[in-house]
Amino acid sequence: MNLGVEIAGIRLKNPLLAASGTFGYGLEYEGVLDLSRLGGIVCKGLYMEPRDGNPTPRIVETPAGLLNAIGLQGIGIRAFVRDVLPRLVRHDTAVLVNVCGDTVEEYAEVSRVCDGAPGIAGLEVNISCPNVKKGGLAFGGDPRMTHEVVAAVRKATRLPVIPKLSPNVADITVFARAAEEAGADALSCINTLLGLVIDVESRRPRLAFGTGGLSGPAIRPVAVRMAWQAARSVRIPVIGIGGIASASDALEFLIAGCRAVQIGTANFVDPGIHERILTDLAAYLERHSLDDVNAVVGTLEYPGLPRPCEVCE
Ligand SMILES: Cc1cc2nc3c(=O)[nH]c(=O)nc-3n(C[C@H](O)[C@H](O)[C@H](O)COP(=O)(O)O)c2cc1C
Repeated sequence: MNLGVEIAGIRLKNPLLAASGTFGYGLEYEGVLDLSRLGGIVCKGLYMEPRDGNPTPRIVETPAGLLNAIGLQGIGIRAFVRDVLPRLVRHDTAVLVNVCGDTVEEYAEVSRVCDGAPGIAGLEVNISCPNVKKGGLAFGGDPRMTHEVVAAVRKATRLPVIPKLSPNVADITVFARAAEEAGADALSCINTLLGLVIDVESRRPRLAFGTGGLSGPAIRPVAVRMAWQAARSVRIPVIGIGGIASASDALEFLIAGCRAVQIGTANFVDPGIHERILTDLAAYLERHSLDDVNAVVGTLEYPGLPRPCEVCE
């Protein structure tokens, strides 16, 4: 049975990646699970310099979800390339860097550093973080800025460029097309949904930052809808993200037209979740007499609407 997929020229042994910010830099899980079983790891977001992130509290549980405002804490791209990457590439899995920046130039600069670093399979461009004052959503919430950042990253690297789109927009297809036009090789859909949790006793936000990004099963139907819309609107492949905690969840995204998926918040509940989903995914394929996971991609029966591939071709 073939579980392998290809995204923007990156061969993944299976369609399950660990989502950025929910799996550290990967090495934290050495000894807990076999990293080579993962299709890939998208590392925590990285700027040029190290960052402390936002003050605590910066995580609060919500019904079927998590609201976070970590604020992109990280060690900086040079320390990652020097100290983490050489150990990470010993594991037979695709390593993607989640690229961040306060300015267009910084996105390009981080990408340039990655370009020269052996072992990085691709760049996920984080233009959708709702938890930072500069950058983040400022780029992913305006199609012209999306185009500008993606074009700058495109120029700075030969690595596959995968912008990560925000759900905090009215029409994700506008952003998907802007990113594609600017030279993106694939898209990641979606980042967290902007939320607010209030402590009614103090009448203050529960997070020190105020608002945060909602993730987990609570967002899955929104994520599937947006990933589906994005996949229908572009020719490049889409990676689905949002609330995946089972093979059935992952399959929703694949059937909606995504070529691979990322698992985020569910890692906090069960660090071995990839293995379980992979086993159940294979069982599903067998039950449906399919010998290739790619055969389910974009097979959504949606009466009255053409399939994604028919829109593209
Ligand atoms: C604690 C936390 C930290 C995150 N950090 C990042 C990050 O650094 N870069 C990024 O692009 N997305 C980040 N995300 C968003 C996830 O990668 C993912 O897009 C989102 O959580 C939805 O997927 P999920 O519902 O499976 O968690 C973070 C999410 C959480 C919960």
